[in-house]
Amino acid sequence: MSLPDGTPAPRAFLFADPAAHSLSPQMHRAAFAHAGQPGTYEARRVPPADLAAAIAGLRAPGVLGANLSLPHKEAALPLLDSLSGAARAVGAVNTVVHRDGRLHGDNTDSPGLRDALSDAGYIWEQGAGVIVLGAGGAARAAVHALIRAQQNVTVVNRTLERAQAIAADWHDPDADVQVTALPAHAAPWESAALVVNASSAGLNDPDQTPLDAAFLTRLPAGTLVYDMVYKPAETRLMREARAAGLSAHNGLGMLAHQARLAFHAWTGADVPVRVFLDALTRAGAPAAAQGQDT
Ligand SMILES: NC(=O)c1ccc[n+]([C@@H]2O[C@H](COP(=O)([O-])OP(=O)(O)OC[C@H]3O[C@@H](n4cnc5c(N)ncnc54)[C@H](OP(=O)(O)O)[C@@H]3O)[C@@H](O)[C@H]2O)c1
Repeated sequence: MSLPDGTPAPRAFLFADPAAHSLSPQMHRAAFAHAGQPGTYEARRVPPADLAAAIAGLRAPGVLGANLSLPHKEAALPLLDSLSGAARAVGAVNTVVHRDGRLHGDNTDSPGLRDALSDAGYIWEQGAGVIVLGAGGAARAAVHALIRAQQNVTVVNRTLERAQAIAADWHDPDADVQVTALPAHAAPWESAALVVNASSAGLNDPDQTPLDAAFLTRLPAGTLVYDMVYKPAETRLMREARAAGLSAHNGLGMLAHQARLAFHAWTGADVPVRVFLDALTRAGAPAAAQGQDT
């Protein structure tokens, strides 16, 4: 694709390893079409040893930037010229924005989760209790979003020490809300308004779950269970949450919102999240998260 004067269309990329499975090209191509802007988006497999060269290539004229996925989200930090507050706090970059030869790192997973939770009907009450499952980069993005939204967070992880490291990083005795790390049996299930699965348990495995179903029965009736995993469309965690009478959503909404926010950072265009969700559906992703709760 090229502009009428012959200059090449703006380009954006995904750097990941592996990259072939990604649904990001379909989302961003749909967004360029919806915005009426020329542009290309290409998923590239970039092994860790090639990351520095790939990032350096983003400084070329005509490049908008790139999304970063596993295993590059943390490794890219020292390769960039500046970082957003979210990227610095989370310690991970999923979106690189190129402007005039300089590269700015951002994290749109965190606000993407916030927006997906709102779409899923989560009511943001000051000081509400949220349990986050997992302690990797996705959990850190979740904790960042939840603390910014004045939620009290308990991190539960298979390896407790990693949850404790997150609690230590967010420790602020002067804050109104806190991050606590606890083993599952000690977590405050009875008072939780939201459970976010930010672990990779259940990914591509309908029989795997990060949580014994007995804990789900301790949650109040109105609790929302949000699973960042979206393959399969209904994870075992979601299935068991629904069986316990709870509302459950998969992570497609977050995937769509993080892409929407990245696209906005590159182009300035406000493309509705529906465009990204429809592209995911057309690409064969399971029906969008909205409206799936029982
Ligand atoms: N929907 C979206 O847009 C979106 C965005 C970002 C990430 N995600 C998803 O979020 C998930 C986590 O991503 P990540 O980058 O944070 O991964 P990560 O850094 O590899 O962390 C994985 C976490 O999952 C835990 N875990 C793995 N297998 C488990 C099991 N069988 N039972 C219990 N816990 C288990 C690990 O526990 P240990 O610490 O004990 O190893 C760790 O805390 C992935 O499925 C990813 O696809 C979705």
